[in-house]
Amino acid sequence: MRLQDKVAIVAGAGSRGPGMGNGKATAILFAREGAKVVAADLNLDAAQETVAIIESEGGEAMAYQADVTKEPEAKGLVDATVAKYGKLDILFNNVGIGLGGLGLGVTSEDWDTVMRVNLKSILFMCKYAVPRMIENGGGAIVNNASMAAFYAHPMYAYSVSKAGVVAFTRCLAGTLASNRIRVNCVAPGFMDTPMVASIMNEDRIRDVEARVPLRRHGTGEETAAAVLFLASDEASYITGHTICVDGGLSIR
Ligand SMILES: NC(=O)c1ccc[n+]([C@@H]2O[C@H](COP(=O)([O-])OP(=O)(O)OC[C@H]3O[C@@H](n4cnc5c(N)ncnc54)[C@H](O)[C@@H]3O)[C@@H](O)[C@H]2O)c1
Repeated sequence: MRLQDKVAIVAGAGSRGPGMGNGKATAILFAREGAKVVAADLNLDAAQETVAIIESEGGEAMAYQADVTKEPEAKGLVDATVAKYGKLDILFNNVGIGLGGLGLGVTSEDWDTVMRVNLKSILFMCKYAVPRMIENGGGAIVNNASMAAFYAHPMYAYSVSKAGVVAFTRCLAGTLASNRIRVNCVAPGFMDTPMVASIMNEDRIRDVEARVPLRRHGTGEETAAAVLFLASDEASYITGHTICVDGGLSIR
């Protein structure tokens, strides 16, 4: 029980389709490890599905509907968490989308949407979570970036936004270390999750087997294991860092 007596928010705790995404798997794992989890999602049904799994395993969780790209809704989520469970120890910022044309073909609207969803969601959640963590004597924030932050990725807006997540993580970690708040990132690589179900086919599977040293896709549960480590006291001397959950892609 590595998160015994902790209170955690997972922003983007549902999953966009059947199966196990990164946020859903993390919310479930946090609860298995003893945390009380606020499973927040734009899609209340998706959040409730995650909560139903947690409760079926004997865990404690609350579903909460919020669009965390809207500042008042991010604030409302943090306030509701503290009202329900009395404090906030852990925040996992999982909300993120990939969208738009490739390369310079990306439209202005798609560029703005990706930046808004992938970066403002984290800014607003941190803005309201951090004061609560300071009140509480410390905390841990984990942001979901992507290996797309580090490579010449064809979806420019996605790649640039995720590089922003890594930079934001470092900025915040530097500022908050004296408040005993650690801030880290995970960077998943090729994961077999509902997010990529529409582009999952034999060609992609063969491509991933050829490019990834571990010769397969990763899973939402494997992302969740890294998030759990960073959120737990086992990572008590780690801040401002990014763990690549990528089957070795980054060493090739
Ligand atoms: N292949 C992969 O799965 C992969 C690889 C690298 C990085 N990532 C990152 O992982 C994250 C998504 O992982 P997932 O598997 O949980 O995805 P998912 O899309 O299945 O689930 C994300 C959840 O976030 C919710 N959401 C979207 N916008 C929201 C908003 N504005 N406010 C609140 N909730 C919102 C959705 O309704 C959905 O339920 C993203 O940040 C993505 O960039 C994923």
